[in-house]
Amino acid sequence: MDSVSSYIESNRDQFAADLAELLRIPSISAQAEKNAETRRAGEWVASQFKNMGLKPEVIPTKGHPLVYAETPAVPSKPVVLCYGHYDVQPPEPLDEWISPPFEPTVRDGNIFARGATDDKGQMLTHVKGVEAWIKSVGKLPIQVKFLIEGEEEVGSQNLEPYVGQNREKLACNAVVISDCSQFAPGIPAITYGLRGIAYYELKLRGPKQDLHSGTFGGAITNPANALTTLLAALRDKDGRVQVPGFYDEVVPLTDREREEYRKLPGTEAEFMQSVGVTGMFGEAGYSAIERRWARPTFDINGLTSGYQGEGAKTVLPAKASAKFSFRLVPNQDPTKITNGLRKFLEERLPPGIQMELVDHHGAPGVMVALESPYMAAAAAAIESAFGRAPVMIREGGSIPIVNTFADELGADVLLLGWGQNDDNTHSPNEKFSLDDYHRGTLASAALWEQIAKLSPTEKSKKK
Ligand code: BES
Ligand code: MN
Ligand code: MN
Repeated sequence: MDSVSSYIESNRDQFAADLAELLRIPSISAQAEKNAETRRAGEWVASQFKNMGLKPEVIPTKGHPLVYAETPAVPSKPVVLCYGHYDVQPPEPLDEWISPPFEPTVRDGNIFARGATDDKGQMLTHVKGVEAWIKSVGKLPIQVKFLIEGEEEVGSQNLEPYVGQNREKLACNAVVISDCSQFAPGIPAITYGLRGIAYYELKLRGPKQDLHSGTFGGAITNPANALTTLLAALRDKDGRVQVPGFYDEVVPLTDREREEYRKLPGTEAEFMQSVGVTGMFGEAGYSAIERRWARPTFDINGLTSGYQGEGAKTVLPAKASAKFSFRLVPNQDPTKITNGLRKFLEERLPPGIQMELVDHHGAPGVMVALESPYMAAAAAAIESAFGRAPVMIREGGSIPIVNTFADELGADVLLLGWGQNDDNTHSPNEKFSLDDYHRGTLASAALWEQIAKLSPTEKSKKK
């Protein structure tokens, strides 16, 4: 392991340069005009595996390709599947970026670019950790399989069937994913729960075209008014979602969890300051951490109608639309929620309005086994690289494929985030600390050694 670590130390600058190369590729999976670029990012990842002597596959799907590679099998040792994504979210609004989103720039020890932390930087720590073993020791102490996709940010819909159809190929004891965060700078974490998501677009149509709001206003339903009324009805003043049955399956926070969260450092005042707000909102009876990690939500993600140009225009818009989503927690079922939502909206649709509800994507919430030998191995690896034992946290974001891995492969899932909450994921000026990139790489390399101490037949105790 010493020679592995020294390879990582002496290649610090090279690894940062490689990350910058990947960050220059605008692999925005949601935008069809970027399809060739998105593919190029996948091919770039494959070339990394090729350069370390592996035989990567770039696997076509109905959407963006998957990249698969594996190191040689190591008999009677556990097998790990390492998952990540090379696609990124759209960078807009562009004028808020200090340096352009696809021109990676280092400031103050952070590399700024879209995808820096989510997930190109975090994903590469595992690629570089494996490279370090191969280049210094010549081989790994366990077999590592990589499955890197290009559609995480659009819901992983093509990966889903692939996992089910390739159980043998992907067979493993544990799945390792670095696509989330540490608790805070200097406080590494293991994430044992994620929220799920159900994402929709609601399109309302009224009159056959835009109308003069004086001539016609007051006599027909304005689609923008109808939209805001419907959206407002989806939630009460405390943030409780009003879709019937929405809370039926929600797994409540345990007393133990609430106590552990109270012990975590940081205040709500600091939290407000970090996001630049002067007040907070949320479901009554829960702390900000509990609301973010373990309670379901409703949030509007985009809202469009009427005149958006300069000055005033007295128009009654013919259409209005909104993108919105619910964050879900275990054991809410996205399909059930879609059915309840559709009924809720249809029942309240005012006269003269037609609706279309697009169900963009859905994924259930995640809870992983806490009492697992793999968890203990990860904690030891993190402590060795970050100089401090990790805290156990949940997070509010979603990684749609996680439950599929757990169900189809019967593997333990390790969510090892190297990012920070202020990395600006999905926002302008996304960044990743080059120290976290380095420590993440050291932790990844150490993890393969820790897991090599386990017997592949050891099973976790599901909580
Ligand atoms: N890496 C994030 C998920 C994440 C964010 C986990 C923060 C933990 C903390 C991932 O790339 C992501 O953004 N997922 C989407 C899911 C989606 C588009 C289906 C999300 O959470 O919005
Ligand atoms: Mn991600
Ligand atoms: Mn993301």
